[in-house]
Amino acid sequence: MRYGHFDDGAREYVVERPDTPLPWLNYLGSGDYVALVTNTGGGYSFFRDARLRRLTRYRYNAPTDAGGRHVYLRDDEAGTFWLPCRELAGYRCRHGLGYTAIESARDGVAVETTFVVPPDATYELWRVRVRNARRTSAALSLFAGVEFCLWDAHDDATNLQRNLSVGEVEVEGATILHVSEYRERRDHFAWFTCSAETAGFDTQRDAFLGPGRGFDAPAAVVRGACSDSIAHGWQPCGVHHVRLVLAPGEEGEIVFALGYSENARDAKFDEHGRVDKRNVPAILPGAADAALAARSAEWDERLGRLQVETPNVHVDRMVNVWNQAQCMVTFDLSRSASLFETGVGRGMGFRDSSQDVLGFVHLIPERARERILDLAATQLPSGGAYHQYQPLTKRGNDAIGSGFNDDPLWLVLATCAYLKETGDRTILDEAVPYDNAAGSETPLREHLDRALSYTVERIGPHGLPLIGRADWNDCLNLNCFSEEPGESFQTVGNREGGVAESVFIAALFVLAARELGGERWAAAAAAMEDAVRAHGWDGAWFRRAYDHFGAPVGSAACDEGQIFVEPQGMCAMAGIGLDDGRAAAALASVRERLLTGHGVMLVQPAYTRYRLELGEITSYPPGYKENAGVFCHTNPWIVIAETRIGDGEAALDLYLRTNPSAREDVSDVHRCEPYVYAQMIAGRDAATHGEAKNSWLTGAAAWSLVAVTQWILGIRPEHDGLRIDPCLPRDWEGFTATRVFRGATYRIRVRGSGRVDALLVDGERVEGSLIPLQPPGAVVEVETISYTPEGQWSASAVRAAASST
Ligand code: BGC
Repeated sequence: MRYGHFDDGAREYVVERPDTPLPWLNYLGSGDYVALVTNTGGGYSFFRDARLRRLTRYRYNAPTDAGGRHVYLRDDEAGTFWLPCRELAGYRCRHGLGYTAIESARDGVAVETTFVVPPDATYELWRVRVRNARRTSAALSLFAGVEFCLWDAHDDATNLQRNLSVGEVEVEGATILHVSEYRERRDHFAWFTCSAETAGFDTQRDAFLGPGRGFDAPAAVVRGACSDSIAHGWQPCGVHHVRLVLAPGEEGEIVFALGYSENARDAKFDEHGRVDKRNVPAILPGAADAALAARSAEWDERLGRLQVETPNVHVDRMVNVWNQAQCMVTFDLSRSASLFETGVGRGMGFRDSSQDVLGFVHLIPERARERILDLAATQLPSGGAYHQYQPLTKRGNDAIGSGFNDDPLWLVLATCAYLKETGDRTILDEAVPYDNAAGSETPLREHLDRALSYTVERIGPHGLPLIGRADWNDCLNLNCFSEEPGESFQTVGNREGGVAESVFIAALFVLAARELGGERWAAAAAAMEDAVRAHGWDGAWFRRAYDHFGAPVGSAACDEGQIFVEPQGMCAMAGIGLDDGRAAAALASVRERLLTGHGVMLVQPAYTRYRLELGEITSYPPGYKENAGVFCHTNPWIVIAETRIGDGEAALDLYLRTNPSAREDVSDVHRCEPYVYAQMIAGRDAATHGEAKNSWLTGAAAWSLVAVTQWILGIRPEHDGLRIDPCLPRDWEGFTATRVFRGATYRIRVRGSGRVDALLVDGERVEGSLIPLQPPGAVVEVETISYTPEGQWSASAVRAAASST
């Protein structure tokens, strides 16, 4: 069952009813000002840091999509009112790139509310168009409001004894300013303004709502008038009331704006001791139209760098629009602010943000460069890493743990992806501090060497890397041994002298060392590969780890948790087992034991009881999260692995199982948005098999884009040029693509589904599959030549070859 449809031409997902199984979210803005907007106008807004500069209050875990942006339409003659963003009649919500427009029509009045953040603005616009479709004139009232957050979202929700007394506002004309704490140490304030003359306002929430009432039926709206309340403490809000009299067929347009401004410390107040408002922009009618046009042009340019036309609509719309848009959001926000990530818990994750670069670097390489340097600046002198940093300060912290021994290796992958995309090797010479300490700077290249050394210096009894707190799988806590309820598995003290080892880190190390290159790291990678062959192979798949007692994890010898997905993907990606048939055998085991219709599960059999020596993974009920959920992040690793063994059928098949668009028909089961990846889909052991959770902020975005574009379609940036090395299902007759790479535009036509043996580059034959670098500005036509155009080299041939070794 669906709740909407894709409008590919408009680059929109059109939600057809307000009561989707979960609120379906969109992100507006990027960089400084971010607005989360659901299909009923819910969500929250913040400036740079979702915890420390929160503009609007959000109620976590509420039974409905409550809060956020409140819009009411009142028929002043009939005395009735409704919520046009939640109204069933004539409802339609168009989530587009950088905007959301919600329409409904009731009692002969059509309302369209469009939310957009203009590029580079620190505010959001709400353009409300009201059209009178009646035969008679209509006397209407529009109420629009927000509930302000007292800046620190955590404090706002917890420290009521203080913050119910600090709320302050100012009102000037049609502008309401939220100035709590501005009198003392804050130099910033929020404002909510309106392009039209207003009939009244409220800034005290309970005056607007009335005693014992909620936002569904505020007393002021019922009554048809605000009370011009001024908030002194309690819950400051901003509500404008605008009256409209519309002739038959007439349309009125009002623009509201919610924004953030800062003043210099010595210029905070005007001559009357009131807030200096010089940085509050005037919002003119028409502001939203200009913003929408600017956003559209921006996305044309951005997405124009990578566009494909393939035989599969789900590939096309995810690659061309939504997957790239999601990569932009994960790049901006890491795992900090969504409807599942509250914005108060996590900052920018070191490993998460490093991986997000992989799916983003082609979009805005300069921002990727800056991010890589920011991440490296939080690295510790040991080469290790904090697990996260706060975006406002860019300082690392161990609030959610430290000593995850995989963390630093991802920085190597991010940097290598940047080097391949841009060819800008000057980044390696940038002087970057450790732990942000002035005077500790070394060239970035040294940071990467230290990241790899960090692994080599922490080797366990089997010659495999020590896992530390955990590796990519945050919940595989092999040194934790937690017996206290409520204790964080990630921060509780490690058991002394831990010797638990990770096969996954070993494979990740091999991949990273080979990516970085050089004799030293080639030798280290070879040695590590030997260790994986000697102690990481279980007979039919790669083992996952060795626990504190030296017992294998992810082995046929285990009673539960016999096979894990992560090392099967990462080993093949690193090239381990490609030449001896182990990778193919491991992938066959994945298909046999982990594959479901909803994607590949993380582990099988699921753990059915808590195990002290394994940690959080065994805390989840079977089928959820790391305990045998379909952890979407890991699925593209298997997709890439399938291409590494040349199985284009299996690669595309698996890719489509977690592709959100391909799951649209089962939206009632999936429940999350059908246009973006979710972190997890409940596995086969779960009662709700197929149900997604934690949409938007997941490494599945970057890795899925990498898997499908670089490995299935095979358009892969390399140091010396652009590789065209697809691995396609046999029934594809090729595809076309446009890729902007180092300033040149490549128009690519892949013919057939076979291995690419040669290329025609502007008509010139080039042997192999690497397009030599073309000058910036060039527009280059590329065609592929294949000696086996039907793709006999793939699938069954490879499997047969593997089983005969
Ligand atoms: C974290 C990732 C982690 C994954 C698997 C996610 O919630 O953000 O860093 O790799 O879970 O545990």
